[in-house]
Amino acid sequence: MDQYVIKGGNPLVGDVEIGGAKNAALAIITAAIMTDETVLLENIPDVSDINALLGAISFIGATVNRMDRHTVSINGSTISGSSVDYDLIKKIRASYYLLGALIGKYKKAEVPLPGGCTIGSRPIDLHLKGLQAMGVNIKIEHGDIIAEAEDLHGAHIYLDMASVGATINIMMAATMARGKTTIENAAREPHVVDAANFLNSMGASIKGAGTEVIRIRGVQKLHRTSYSIVPDMIEAGTYMMAAAATGGDIFVTNVIPKHLEAMTAKLTEIGCLVQEYDDMIRVKADKRLKRTQIKTLPYPGFPTDMQPQMAVVLSKAFGTSMITENIFDSRFKYVDELARMGASIKVKGNTAIISGCERLTGARVAVPDLRAGAALVIAALAAEGVSVVEDIVYIQRGYEDFELKLKKLGADIEKVDSSRVIGNRIIQIAE
Ligand code: EPZ
Repeated sequence: MDQYVIKGGNPLVGDVEIGGAKNAALAIITAAIMTDETVLLENIPDVSDINALLGAISFIGATVNRMDRHTVSINGSTISGSSVDYDLIKKIRASYYLLGALIGKYKKAEVPLPGGCTIGSRPIDLHLKGLQAMGVNIKIEHGDIIAEAEDLHGAHIYLDMASVGATINIMMAATMARGKTTIENAAREPHVVDAANFLNSMGASIKGAGTEVIRIRGVQKLHRTSYSIVPDMIEAGTYMMAAAATGGDIFVTNVIPKHLEAMTAKLTEIGCLVQEYDDMIRVKADKRLKRTQIKTLPYPGFPTDMQPQMAVVLSKAFGTSMITENIFDSRFKYVDELARMGASIKVKGNTAIISGCERLTGARVAVPDLRAGAALVIAALAAEGVSVVEDIVYIQRGYEDFELKLKKLGADIEKVDSSRVIGNRIIQIAE
């Protein structure tokens, strides 16, 4: 497996351009199959999760034509069946969005139940409850969700948790249901709004996305559209944290500053200079940062997908910080790896107590999941000496050209094949 070899200590300086939001693109690529006309998507990120989902929809028969890294056309008229293969959902759990899309379009679907993952149990009970309220009969057999609706009708649905996935899945099915659907306690993330805007551009009738009440009036058909994916707030936040952790000064371009407000507020509070422009944000950290408290919450609260990266920033800050993870039940798996670099973090239940230390030192660390992987890279960039970050395939799921963008900011980072690394050193193998 590929690894990163990183020599830490360089403050990140310069500009970095943000790509399309992975979590918006996953929902939108799935929704695109709901019309039999051709959909053109621009600004999609070239990351393995997206490429896996494009593979999944072409597996069920959609016509997918990749014009370039960031542009794809999709036509759902050639879909031959409404059942999704287990291997596909193993590869990309977001293929559970096919449930809402296929039920909306064909009033039936067969999708394997997604398994858990390293950040916690990932049930989809709220997705299924919402679909059942809309008249979908759901059976779970041999690990598959078998869903069919004689009469897919609107419903008034209250989500026990503001689940991103459940909001989007129910919204997709409701788009082509008979009558009106209301989703109460809906998720408000920018990628939920982007999915709603995309569906509306295909002729759906969705109002209130971005608030906790979304109202959908079902339509018979959806039509062609061209759509550009919203910038990725988590990719942007990750570079903001990298600048903070390395004492850098960077401009993060192609962003929507409003989406970054939770990160901006916290970085400002701990002593960074954060300047907002129309579609750019500057983060400068020229002194040792201070402690703070973080509670992860649904948007617009501090995002759970930024929790590991913030922990790295605080592991070098002055004082004792506290992070409470309220969204997932085991999103602190990176703490033991961070401890190998000298961080002092105690995890009790869903809370991490971080005693800031003056310095981190390079070490060999293993990546447990996507966002923890990005956080461990940030730690390696901020540490003294050389680190080897293993299993970077997790990072490549959600960060396009991660090492190239960091190198452009002055990072000393190489992507190498694992056979070329002994200890913390790259050994030259005669070509
Ligand atoms: C989405 O996951 C994102 N993934 C996650 O990003 C993100 O961390 C999460 O939203 C929260 O923002 C995609 O968009 C593909 P949820 P999702 O449903 O939809 C519980 C990344 O790094 N829950 O909002 O699965 C669930 O267990 C990934 O890009 C139920 O109990 O998240 C969790 O505790 C990681 N029953 C909480 O709700 C359900 O039916 C929030 O989950 C659904 C969710």
